[in-house]
Amino acid sequence: MNKSLKMVTIGGGSSYTPELVEGLIKRHDELPVTELWLVDIAEGQKKLHIVGELAKRMVRKAGIQMDIHLTLDRRAALKDADFVTTQFRVGLLEARIKDEKIPLKYGVIGQETNGPGGLFKGLRTIPVILEMARDIEELCPEAWLINFTNPAGMVTEALFRYSHLQKIVGLCNVPIGIKMGVAKALEVDENRVDIQFAGLNHMVFGLDVFLDGKSVKDQVLEAMADPANAMTMKNISGEAWEPDFIRGLDLIPCGYHRYYYKTRDMFEKELEASKTEGTRAEVVQQVEKELFELYKDPNLAIKPPQLEKRGGAYYSDAACNLMSSIYNDRHDIQPVNTLNNGAIASIPADAVAEINCVITKHGPKPITVGDLPISVRGLVQQIKSFERVAAEAAVTGDVKTALVAMTINPLVPSDKIAKRLLDEMLEAHQAHLPQFFK
Ligand code: G6P
Repeated sequence: MNKSLKMVTIGGGSSYTPELVEGLIKRHDELPVTELWLVDIAEGQKKLHIVGELAKRMVRKAGIQMDIHLTLDRRAALKDADFVTTQFRVGLLEARIKDEKIPLKYGVIGQETNGPGGLFKGLRTIPVILEMARDIEELCPEAWLINFTNPAGMVTEALFRYSHLQKIVGLCNVPIGIKMGVAKALEVDENRVDIQFAGLNHMVFGLDVFLDGKSVKDQVLEAMADPANAMTMKNISGEAWEPDFIRGLDLIPCGYHRYYYKTRDMFEKELEASKTEGTRAEVVQQVEKELFELYKDPNLAIKPPQLEKRGGAYYSDAACNLMSSIYNDRHDIQPVNTLNNGAIASIPADAVAEINCVITKHGPKPITVGDLPISVRGLVQQIKSFERVAAEAAVTGDVKTALVAMTINPLVPSDKIAKRLLDEMLEAHQAHLPQFFK
């Protein structure tokens, strides 16, 4: 086992990077990353420098051996990497603002990874990450690609389906966020809580919840049925659930299920917000400005607590735990995105699911759950259909395929609206959709 690892983070100028560096510092003994390359694009050079200098100060303060390199040259960075993480946003927050605003004009939810916004985030991202996959195949074929880039489920599906890589894992912080929320509701340490996760990214359910190995699902459902206990995330408004719906569902939903089981309420909320404090991406733009002002401070040498204002907080625990368990062949259980391989009966074996897996040096091995309850099976399959058609549209640049993806998405009410939405969003994002404007 080599005692020094090379890690590359593509999208290294992200405001989340200090959390990743903190996670690597915390685990340096078990995960000896001695070379960290932070890669970004020319538009992100200023952010890369600010975040990179903070990362260097954090490592120096921690007194560990980790050389941090900042570069715009992805290929130079990738050479002989052991782990590659991806966390980039094609079109930056400006593109996300369009994804969140344009659908509102048509009475449709505008959201980062769901509905029309999720479709266009995928259309912009998939060709770019497939190019990265070709570089990885050439320059570090033995590396593990850990993808955080949203929509993480669709993007990971596209990587398995349209690249030659196999050592791919899709990650998200939603499961770890649910586990923390449950521990808080039960007023126990989160290490005593286990949740049986199964579904898709941003469409994952807790099939059962255990405290010290004993099922406490009913207790957790009662807690979630309490209007005072939103159990949501920073980026999703915590509309209270209808108590008997949660009791009857008999599953732990994730924050994103509000867009499907509370569509009208969430749309009204979003429309109102867009006229007052702004859409989520506009709020995040402000948070980002504050964060980068903080990061510039030469006396700052830790991850500032303000980073927890972002919805993606704690993602680094998911990333570092995963890399450490692969590197140490730990065989612990973690929820990740990988090939379903029969673990969930109603999802194709070759499709990507978000599910509890045993993490080994050969990667995640999904734990069979049987099938999803009939009450949620249809929605999960419909979202998987959407992901697959969207990924095909992203790769082919075929407008009809993109229109099918838009129309079959459960948040889009009709084919006529889908067509108008698609045309306007293709136009709005033309600069980042070369495959549609050959
Ligand atoms: C959640 C999701 C991430 C998403 C993030 C958005 O935690 O798991 O996939 O990107 O929130 O947070 P933001 O602060 O950008 O709205």
